[in-house]
Amino acid sequence: MTEIYNYFAVCPRGLEAVVARELKNLQAKDIMPERAGVSFSGDLKLGYKANLWLRSAVRVLCKIKEFPAHSEAEFYENVVAMHWENHLSIDHTLAVTANINDSFLTHSQFAALKTKDAVVDRFMNKYERRPNVDRDSPDVHIYLNMNHNHCTLSLNMSGESLHQRGYRRQKGEAPLKEALAAGIVLLTGYDGSQIFIDAMCGSGTLPIEAALIARNFAPGLLRQNFGFQRWPNHDADLWQNVVAEAQDNVCRPATTIFGSDISSQIVGFAKENARRAGVRPWVKFSQKDMFELTSRGEGGVIICNPPYGERMGEIDDVRGLYTEIGNVFKRRFTGNTGYIFTGNPELLKSVGLKTKQKHVLYNGQLESRLAEYALF
Ligand SMILES: C[S@@+](CC[C@H](N)C(=O)[O-])C[C@H]1O[C@@H](n2cnc3c(N)ncnc32)[C@H](O)[C@@H]1O
Repeated sequence: MTEIYNYFAVCPRGLEAVVARELKNLQAKDIMPERAGVSFSGDLKLGYKANLWLRSAVRVLCKIKEFPAHSEAEFYENVVAMHWENHLSIDHTLAVTANINDSFLTHSQFAALKTKDAVVDRFMNKYERRPNVDRDSPDVHIYLNMNHNHCTLSLNMSGESLHQRGYRRQKGEAPLKEALAAGIVLLTGYDGSQIFIDAMCGSGTLPIEAALIARNFAPGLLRQNFGFQRWPNHDADLWQNVVAEAQDNVCRPATTIFGSDISSQIVGFAKENARRAGVRPWVKFSQKDMFELTSRGEGGVIICNPPYGERMGEIDDVRGLYTEIGNVFKRRFTGNTGYIFTGNPELLKSVGLKTKQKHVLYNGQLESRLAEYALF
């Protein structure tokens, strides 16, 4: 019988519903959005597909045990009793990351150490030898989540964060992480058939992610390594099938995607990044002031991720920029939907357009907004 696993896809806060939709498209079961992630279930193939296909998630965890614990002794007994030998051998390296919330253990590093000790003791008791710790690049990365004394132990399937697609070596000012950028594009409802314009594209993250969507290109195809490839029970044939299926799904985009920025140096970076992402032929980049842009037709998406005056004293300078963006949207892009993504929600007051919808998204720790404007 096919084994069913419980998974958790970690994502930037605010993108839970987007990840849930992505998981629905992958035919995941028991999809449940939680804070900064979505739990779901399915077979191993689904776990592999989630790693390869999820655009807005940063990590896929495979749960291996849940239990309550109210003391160190109870915690240790539970962890040492687990069949760790099914997940790693004495020749594999391990690391533990812990996340603690309102529990009897209060320090995540201490909790990670206690978990590691119990795993190592399991091997010592059984084989009189133990696996080594490798914090930087472990073969098996164990995650402990302890919430109100409820412990969940999982294995990190992804390895390095999934936002690291590998195409972005050159960065401009305040670049968006790829998973957040993909989530923003998906929130606009962009599906590859509409016109897509990023008028302040920086290093090109939004148009590149839009082009990957338009190509139906699984973002994981750009990566060389996933954590599960180093697991002892990795099914390399199944993984090859999942990759081959994704390669067969790649298509030619139906429309062109546009990215422009006022800085010619940064546009150069964006072009180079798009080339590495394999989407250069479908993204037209140009050096242009946002205020010189003209419409490319109706029914499209025009988006800006403007500077938001992070440094002291800059805020008044950028306020006027937001007003001007509102004017350009209103005067030149009628019949399109405009979006502004900003790390300073206060600045949206200067846009001067009626907001149709606002999404609260977290760019790391920074509470940000994606505002939508219907441009009639
Ligand atoms: C926050 S960054 C965008 C980052 C981008 N989303 C990324 O992922 O790399 C803001 C960008 O707006 C550009 N910019 C500022 N004023 C502009 C204007 N008037 N027209 C076009 N681009 C402008 C800056 O050069 C900068 O690259």
